[in-house]
Amino acid sequence: MEAIDLLKSRRSVLVKNLTSPGPDKEDLQQILEVGLRVPDHGKIGPWRIQVITPKGQKALGDLAAKIFTNKYGERATEKQIEAERQRPQRAPVLLVVTSDIQSPHKIPELEQRLSGGAVCMNILNAAHALGYSAQWVTEWLSFDTEIKAALGHQDQTDIIGMIYIGTAVEPPQPRTRPHLDEIVSEWSGP
Ligand SMILES: Cc1cc2nc3c(=O)[nH]c(=O)nc-3n(C[C@H](O)[C@H](O)[C@H](O)COP(=O)(O)O)c2cc1C
Repeated sequence: MEAIDLLKSRRSVLVKNLTSPGPDKEDLQQILEVGLRVPDHGKIGPWRIQVITPKGQKALGDLAAKIFTNKYGERATEKQIEAERQRPQRAPVLLVVTSDIQSPHKIPELEQRLSGGAVCMNILNAAHALGYSAQWVTEWLSFDTEIKAALGHQDQTDIIGMIYIGTAVEPPQPRTRPHLDEIVSEWSGP
C-alpha cells in the first residue's frame, strides 16, 4: 500500500477486539524506532516508553484488581475484580508512554508535551503499517498514583498513553471523520 493510503486507512481497534498475534521482537523494535522519530524541540526527549512484558501485564493486572477491591470494598463484584485483573492483559503487547516535562526550560511545556503525543501517534501508525491494530488509551490506570509508583515513575511524570497492540478480531467499523471544511480554513492576511 502507498504510504499515504496507509496513513489514511488507520483506525483504532478497541482493546477488547485485539488478540494474538502481537508484534514479535523484530516488529516491536521497528514500531519503537518509529515511535522515537518525532519532532522534539531542543532534543530534550521528554518521553519514555516501557514495554510491559507478559509477566508485567499480569503483575499490573493483579495490582489493578487489588486497588479496585480496596477502593470499592464489598461493592466490588468478583466479575468486576476479574475484569480489572484482565485490563492490562487484554492484548498481546502493552506499551506505557510517559511524559516528563523539563520545567523551567526555554522550550515551552506545551511543546514538550505535544512531542509525547507524537510518540504515541507514530507508534499507532507504525503498528498499522506492519499490519497490526492498536488502541491508545489512558483509562484509570494512567492516573492512579499506586500504578504509577509501581511502574517506577515519580509524581511529576505523566502516563500519557497505554498503547495496546495486537491483531483485530474483525475489521473495525469506519469512524465518521470531520469534513475538512469544518476544520480547515484559509487565511490570506488581515
Ligand atoms: C490521550 C488519549 C487518551 C485516550 N484514552 C482513551 C481511553 O481511556 N478510553 C477509550 O476508550 N479511548 C481513549 N482514547 C481514544 C482512542 O484512542 C481512539 O482515539 C478512539 O477509539 C478513536 O479511534 P480512531 O483512532 O480510529 O480515531 C484516547 C485518545 C487519546 C488521544
